Amino acid sequence: MRLLVCGGAGFIGSNFVRERVRDHGDAVVVLDKLTYAGRRENLRDVEHEFVHGAIEDPEVVTAAMEGADAVVNFAAETHVDRSIAEPDAFVTTHALGTWVLLEAARAAGVRYLQVSTDEVYGSIEEGSFTESSPLQPSSPYSATKAGADLLVASYFHTYGLQTLICRGSNNYGPRQYPEKLIPLMVLNALHGDPLPVYGDGMQVRNWLYVEDFARGIGHVLAHGAPGEAYNVGGPDECPNIEVVQRIIELTGADPSLLTFVKDRPGHDRRYSLASEKVRALGWEAQVRFAGGLEQTVAWYQDNRAWWEPIRSGDYRAYYERQYGSRIAD
Ligand code: NAD
Ligand code: TYD
Repeated sequence: MRLLVCGGAGFIGSNFVRERVRDHGDAVVVLDKLTYAGRRENLRDVEHEFVHGAIEDPEVVTAAMEGADAVVNFAAETHVDRSIAEPDAFVTTHALGTWVLLEAARAAGVRYLQVSTDEVYGSIEEGSFTESSPLQPSSPYSATKAGADLLVASYFHTYGLQTLICRGSNNYGPRQYPEKLIPLMVLNALHGDPLPVYGDGMQVRNWLYVEDFARGIGHVLAHGAPGEAYNVGGPDECPNIEVVQRIIELTGADPSLLTFVKDRPGHDRRYSLASEKVRALGWEAQVRFAGGLEQTVAWYQDNRAWWEPIRSGDYRAYYERQYGSRIAD
């Protein structure tokens, strides 16, 4: 199969491309804007064609889609804290970018899979969201992702475009940019820096190993019913404070580094997905959180060359902006 993978130079996209090329022999064209989160480095070991460009650019998109059997769209701004500080790029990429991709897919008659998130359903105290739960997003990140999902669904209903949506829970694993909870805590622990836990640390996330999500997306692309959305949730949930305590144990860091800091505005308390629908297609998560976290910590310990350029670059300014006042308060 020939795939156009948008946002394939990021964390989940690069894991997906690696899996498709190695395990399925697909030919892959990656279209990526290379924002702070996208890196050619992530695909160094994988054969692929690379197009540097934005999904909101119709000319680039039309050319990149030529000859593709399917489009998988990972391209997104993905960090909730950044969406609170600067929502602009979230609207451009998720609303305009998704629309441009859908138009090009419609013109080319190509199957389209949108990678989405559990955050579109909002927070849930108990139980789990199914695919028919209402969308009640809380942050500019999740609101613009929900808008994109609705637009995708409209292209199925209105134009008959063969669309699919995969809503994943919180991913973790190799090559995740260290603005997200797990890689940020691992790198801070390795450096002896404070481990900033927002609020009371009792927010719960449903953790999914990135390779399980990548396989799930491929599975839905092959076996999903057009027009449908599929939840792809991880096998274990865990409160943030416990995630950080496990990282302290795995890295041997000083427990006194754990620091409670000012909470995120509008912070969602708990995410949880019911994934029966994708299981009925034959997908199952294979990596439990305890083992996956251990592997992830080991990957960051063994791959300093991947993250050293990040920690010494623009990231420092980002970190100061996000955490300077939080940690000082
Ligand atoms: P990431 O931030 O690591 O990567 C995003 C990629 O998209 C980068 O390579 C970036 O350069 C590229 N990109 C951004 N804007 C673009 C644009 N306008 N045009 C072209 N490329 C652009 O993100 P990730 O964690 O790999 O997430 C990938 C997708 O999975 C996103 O759609 C996200 O909403 C979804 N998702 C993520 C998680 C998670 O826990 N990380 C969970 C569920 C779903
Ligand atoms: P994050 O990795 O940003 O993912 P999301 O907000 O999309 O779920 O955050 C995961 C959880 O960890 C979330 O409840 C916020 C919390 N968190 C912290 O407590 N400290 C941090 O430094 C970060 C980045 C997140």
